[in-house]
Amino acid sequence: MTYTSGILRPLTLKTLHLRNRAVMAPMTRNRSKNHIPGPDVAQYYQRRAEGEIGLIITEGTTVGHPASNGYPDVPDFHTQEALEGWRHVVEEVHKSGGKIFPQLWHVGSVRQTHLCYNEGVDNPKATCCKESQTPGYAPSPVPHPYVEGAEVPHEMTFRDIQEVIQAFVKAAQDAKAMGFDGVEIHGAHGYLIDQFFWSRTNQRGDEYGGEKLSKMVRFAVELIGAVRNAVGPDFPIDFRFSQWKLGDYSAKLAQTPQELEAFLIPIVEAGVDIFHCSTRRFWDPEFPNSSLNLAGWTKKITGKTVISVGSVGLDNDFINTLKMGAKTQASDSRLKALNECLENKEIDLIAIGRSLLADPFWLKKHIEDRSNEVKPFSNEALDKYY
Ligand SMILES: Cc1cc2nc3c(=O)[nH]c(=O)nc-3n(C[C@H](O)[C@H](O)[C@H](O)COP(=O)(O)O)c2cc1C
Repeated sequence: MTYTSGILRPLTLKTLHLRNRAVMAPMTRNRSKNHIPGPDVAQYYQRRAEGEIGLIITEGTTVGHPASNGYPDVPDFHTQEALEGWRHVVEEVHKSGGKIFPQLWHVGSVRQTHLCYNEGVDNPKATCCKESQTPGYAPSPVPHPYVEGAEVPHEMTFRDIQEVIQAFVKAAQDAKAMGFDGVEIHGAHGYLIDQFFWSRTNQRGDEYGGEKLSKMVRFAVELIGAVRNAVGPDFPIDFRFSQWKLGDYSAKLAQTPQELEAFLIPIVEAGVDIFHCSTRRFWDPEFPNSSLNLAGWTKKITGKTVISVGSVGLDNDFINTLKMGAKTQASDSRLKALNECLENKEIDLIAIGRSLLADPFWLKKHIEDRSNEVKPFSNEALDKYY
């Protein structure tokens, strides 16, 4: 790649040593039959490590709570069989010099009882599994605003909250015991943790609700604090958050840098090491009068390590291509700007999603000045798994 100086610098954070600044973004692929990641899943991640990616963040993987899943063939992170599958994934990624975090996930009110979670590529006509009788769980009994025909979810009691926290704790302990290099907690895109942050979905009158973001952050703070206590001080914890929601880039949790600060500081104090700031395009300024993106602002406010993301190597965003079926083309035009952001330490790491889904060797080809050989992303790439 012409612009490699920023991306190829190594990074050390606590026990984590990364060979470069490139991260594979978490991407749900629905390839884990019966929720168990098999050898093909291990091979899929190993290929991206072989392609020189420094840190792989797995697809969302569900914690051990009855309502954590919302999609077919999503891998679990709690049954013995699933954890064995993950252990193999870790070994394969490590053999190729990569590091790996699982993305720990609870979908909240995205879960619908009428959907069938055992369906999938190899078993499209499967009948509903028992698990699907469990409703979605959420901060308030409000149907998910972006799920068509969404049901009213179960309003979480104090006890439910504690049980979900314990499920994340157990998953993080298992991740550490299995040799993962850290964990990412999924607090983005309108799933359970983000539903607590958002006044449209959190209308609670107790200590987990309140008018302000600084109050609604409590569930996440308790969850992260409990995970930190369980894994000890040296194991990296990464927290992914977003202003936007599934299906709506215009949604915004924090309208100003001050609101962002009031949201982030309690999360820092709970024990987070890395913020993964999910955005549509890494080059979009987050607030007026500054070129900083969400990750840039997060680093400036917290001093923590940040991962930026959004349309690296592409000219159209995630929602437009996946949900609206729009086309996107490979585009190297902003790689110079990306390199500069990394060089001048505005951001620390950059996550790459669709470009890496389409081509496991996207980074390696750029490093070796073979960008003309890159396989560009198109929605057809979603049907393939390699
Ligand atoms: C097929 C697909 C599945 C995704 N699944 C997840 C997921 O499980 N967890 C998550 O936080 N983000 C998920 N995302 C969002 C990506 O992590 C990333 O933020 C988004 O694709 C933007 O990056 P890109 O423009 O480089 O693709 C997914 C994206 C794609 C394309």
